[in-house]
Amino acid sequence: MNVQAQITAAPLTGFGNHFATEAAPGALPIGRNSPQKVPFGLYAEQLSGTAFTAPRHENRRSWLYRLRPTASHKPYRPYGGGKLLRSGPFDEVPPSPNRLRWDPLPIPAEPTDWVDGLVTYGGNGDVAVGAGIGIHLYAANRSMDDRVFYSADGELLVVPQQGRITFATELGRLDLSPGEIGAIPRGIRFRAELPDGAARGYVCENYGAPFKLPDLGPIGANGLANPRDFETPHAWFEDRDGTVEVVQKFQGRLWTCTLDHSPLDVVAWHGNLAPYKYDLARFNTINTVSYDHSDPSIFTVLTSPSEIAGTANCDFVIFPPRWMVAEDTFRPPWFHRNVMSEFMGLIHGAYDAKEGGFAPGGASLHNQMAGHGPDLASWEKATTMALAPHKIENTMAFMFESRWVIRPTLWAAETKLCQLDYDDCWAGFPKATV
Ligand SMILES: [Fe+2]
Repeated sequence: MNVQAQITAAPLTGFGNHFATEAAPGALPIGRNSPQKVPFGLYAEQLSGTAFTAPRHENRRSWLYRLRPTASHKPYRPYGGGKLLRSGPFDEVPPSPNRLRWDPLPIPAEPTDWVDGLVTYGGNGDVAVGAGIGIHLYAANRSMDDRVFYSADGELLVVPQQGRITFATELGRLDLSPGEIGAIPRGIRFRAELPDGAARGYVCENYGAPFKLPDLGPIGANGLANPRDFETPHAWFEDRDGTVEVVQKFQGRLWTCTLDHSPLDVVAWHGNLAPYKYDLARFNTINTVSYDHSDPSIFTVLTSPSEIAGTANCDFVIFPPRWMVAEDTFRPPWFHRNVMSEFMGLIHGAYDAKEGGFAPGGASLHNQMAGHGPDLASWEKATTMALAPHKIENTMAFMFESRWVIRPTLWAAETKLCQLDYDDCWAGFPKATV
């Protein structure tokens, strides 16, 4: 059994990023996708992540060779768990124009696995039309036993914050630690295992176009997240009989059905639609070497484009350790108002625009046109400090940034974790004197 992810090229761009892997020698058909007889009597199944007719450079699909066809199952029934999971359209409460911030989501006291530990903070768009995102946190303390999950509504971008998490997927195993991210394409079934017990993290459920690497423009051929650093798993499978529950998210609701075997039975696969992981420490951070600092888009790791060029359904952006060298410059993130909407999380350390209140495992939301920026303490420090080169260390904040307003759920609006005094961090700024 192969449990190691292997470094390969990323399945994020077109020609050349096509994987072929087999967990049993000879299982992968050669020269055709669906031969009359597949080796070992395996079943061939195409998994499409884009329409058949999507342009070649955007087309994503893989061929799976498995012990049993996925089609063989009984009807799904409504699932009773996932009480705090929500989906677009997000219309439980009128979206507030106020800036919001939340304390860290507690690890549950009761036995809770990854699926039941999902809590939706907000989102936008609509699963019914394939646009927008759902933003969840997970807080769990046990592995998924004898059950698997998949979202038919979107791709899952997972950002672990506490505790390792292994996603045993149909296409192989992804071992993630805090500081790494993983992506699981729409429809791929997986079991989340928690080797450390308690685990917490963030999830962007992307209803829109799959995440891909941003174009680099004048940066050139290298920089930011480099394709070679994305890891895609080898084929891996389990031949296991016994009761396994399949929970799926479909059009915003959870459904369940029971199989008499594990569906993680793909012996071989090939294609360019696959889970992948990426270590954020490998991000090649680029910014000014003269004055000012570039817009935070310079920190974009992955982007899910919308139909408007440069205006993302969702950008995944990080704020990693980096040298600050700009001369005669206010170095922290500046005050600004944005047509885009920003949901932030913190993996570890501190964020350089806030002196306190934004904790690892917490979150903040600055929606379209909400004024935000450094708090008073950060502003005072940054406007008076000597501007020698210094390095921001021990930090990893991130942002899900979207072209549409991120509408909080009822839970997110009413939870005691929501900081009622958040606005106070921008109180007390002295008036400029002209
Ligand atoms: Fe911002």
